[in-house]
Amino acid sequence: MATLTFHGHATCTVTTDDGTRLVIDPFFGDNPATELSVEEVDADFVLVTHGHYDHIADAAALAKRTGATVISTVEVVEFLATQGVENLHGMNIGGARDFPFGRLKMVHAIHGGSVQLEGGAPYTTPCAGFVIQVDGCRLYHAGDTALTLDMQLLKGAVDVALLPIGDNFTMGPEDAARAVEFIEPDRVIPIHYDTWPVIEQDPEAFRELVGDRASVEVLAPGGETTLG
Ligand code: NI
Ligand code: MN
Repeated sequence: MATLTFHGHATCTVTTDDGTRLVIDPFFGDNPATELSVEEVDADFVLVTHGHYDHIADAAALAKRTGATVISTVEVVEFLATQGVENLHGMNIGGARDFPFGRLKMVHAIHGGSVQLEGGAPYTTPCAGFVIQVDGCRLYHAGDTALTLDMQLLKGAVDVALLPIGDNFTMGPEDAARAVEFIEPDRVIPIHYDTWPVIEQDPEAFRELVGDRASVEVLAPGGETTLG
């Protein structure tokens, strides 16, 4: 059975039964929610939902040190190639692929995303969520997103959902609770809140809003849970 470790904000590590480590949205050094430095983190795969700093910050450093393969949108992958990352796999929304750890599908997220080449102007990159089938569990990491009707397409296809509840930049608790109605996962883990004052939220209030539609699991940074 795979395990999930939450590092705060949208950053987490999924470790499969056979010890393969997937680090999603690596944001360690400047992340107020974790004491962990990227040098202490191991990865076989690095998954990046989009090009905003709080999701991509340590992706290049982590991939270069560990040799991990970065999976992201084609545009983000092209950017990381300019940063010296060698092992890259580009995808786009709606595409799925079998990886050594399981099947991964890139799904829609409504949000922005930009990266900046040294000395250049920022340019827009698309953003995505991931549905990852790992050790029999279907895990949805929503990335940064608004509530979207497209989430209804995930109904019945997700066991555990990582949903942003911070508001301001993403869904807030009310919309995230509606996302739970759309997706009908067994379990929900709120993410992307309390990192800064502008996204402070009470996860217990989110639990109330979700009610009996799903089990809400609140993980403090460093917290771990099993997937399955
Ligand atoms: Ni973002
Ligand atoms: Mn973000």
